[in-house]
Amino acid sequence: MSVTGDHVVEAGEMRRVLGHFATGVTVITGTDGDTPVGFVCQSFTSVSLEPPLVLFCPAHTSTSWPRIRTGGVFSVNVLAADQTELCKRFATSGGDKFADLAWTPTQWGPSLDGVLATVHCDVEQVHVAGDHDVVIGHVRKLVTHGDSGPLLFFKGQFGLSWD
Ligand SMILES: Cc1cc2nc3c(=O)[nH]c(=O)nc-3n(C[C@H](O)[C@H](O)[C@H](O)COP(=O)(O)O)c2cc1C
Repeated sequence: MSVTGDHVVEAGEMRRVLGHFATGVTVITGTDGDTPVGFVCQSFTSVSLEPPLVLFCPAHTSTSWPRIRTGGVFSVNVLAADQTELCKRFATSGGDKFADLAWTPTQWGPSLDGVLATVHCDVEQVHVAGDHDVVIGHVRKLVTHGDSGPLLFFKGQFGLSWD
């Protein structure tokens, strides 16, 4: 067991300890003009049922989020267990992340083929919180695509084999 002191919380320690909280993985997509954009985002959660709200937290270093924000809408693509390579592609800044990729345009953001679910949203609120924004989305359309397992992220690794 390791215990972090009460007063000084280092960024690396935040990352290490918060990594003990297992999550699924999403790709947040949108469009900048006609150009599809997207980035991997773990900090996604449901917020409210009535009205239907979700949130995600993009870092201020994200180059995709300011571009998505200009459109005022976004889509959350929930990744399946076999989409590790797709995840790595969308977790790298720059380049054409959509090259040779199968996806469908929507009035929100691109819907990526092979994902478990898509959550299509309007941007409702954006709050600055430290070095991230907290983006509240108003859910406009929900789609499920299949019953395969989720891509999981835990202690900096994908999948279920973290021993
Ligand atoms: C599993 C995983 C989860 C991530 N979660 C987030 C997140 O919640 N918010 C964020 O801003 N970046 C997150 N990232 C990092 C971004 O995907 C990464 O910085 C990406 O390069 C940003 O691309 P962009 O510059 O095109 O926005 C995550 C990366 C991985 C691999």
